[in-house]
Amino acid sequence: MIDNMSIETTYQTLITESKNQIFYITINREDKLNALNIQTLTDIKNAVLSIYDEPSVRGVIITGKGSKAFAAGADIAEFANFTVEEGTRMSEEGHAVLRAIDHCPKPVIAAINGFALGGGNELAMSCHIRVCSEKARFGQPEVNLGITPGYAGTQRLAQLIGKGRALEFLMTGDMIDSATALQLGLVNHVVPAEELIAKCEEILNKIKTKAPMAIASVIRCVNAYYEKRADGNNVEINEFGNFFGSEDFIEGTKAFLEKRPANFRGN
Ligand code: COA
Repeated sequence: MIDNMSIETTYQTLITESKNQIFYITINREDKLNALNIQTLTDIKNAVLSIYDEPSVRGVIITGKGSKAFAAGADIAEFANFTVEEGTRMSEEGHAVLRAIDHCPKPVIAAINGFALGGGNELAMSCHIRVCSEKARFGQPEVNLGITPGYAGTQRLAQLIGKGRALEFLMTGDMIDSATALQLGLVNHVVPAEELIAKCEEILNKIKTKAPMAIASVIRCVNAYYEKRADGNNVEINEFGNFFGSEDFIEGTKAFLEKRPANFRGN
């Protein structure tokens, strides 16, 4: 599928650019707060895979268009009416896309310019390094919709910030600000909005001076430590898919789209 993909490929939902050995991927759905519909996920996967073996690229920066959102989650309007089978497939595909980022042999940095919610936070967590602007906000609000995270959020969040903090974050659905994200270890750096991309470039320019094979190996080795816990991913995919048959999930997504509080009944 990626045979025809190159760094020159254009994408329906992304703006991509290659400059000074860095590949820039910008999610281009600003009017929907860069929500990740299936097309966007497919485009991100193909864009990232296109540079795996591209010697002219030594690092990747993923960001969101505009000043408000990195990505405000999976596209609720798109998945609101999914069946259990479609929900399970959506989760499997999301896992595969984020695994392609996680396993990229070149360093991938999330430049988090605003809201990183649900799938947006999961996308950021699949990147090797996270840098955010002071006005970024983070959350896994899926429980407000009557569902769990479906793009490995339950797995990567616990790895990044520890089990207890992850459980509180996942169960309250609270949003946190950039200072709290730094304190929790969810992000590596917080910078003023106008310095966001420059900070990411500074990190990649330093990594660029190192041996590419050593960098790829570091990524493989660190990933290998977590792979042995990979069965948690399968649990998450099955749990996520099953929600598509629940009334609370239908109510949660309907309430969001109708811009009103959800009335959950526990079934
Ligand atoms: N999926 C689909 N559309 C989304 C979206 C998502 N995850 N997040 C935002 N949008 C859309 C809104 O529906 C709205 O579209 P409209 O103009 O056609 O009505 C547009 O993006 C702007 O969002 P809006 O809610 O009006 O902005 P806001 O500033 O009032 O609120 C948020 C910002 C991020 C707090 C709010 O959009 C939100 O809660 N988003 C959903 C977050 C979420 O639950 N993500 C997890 C999904 S699993």
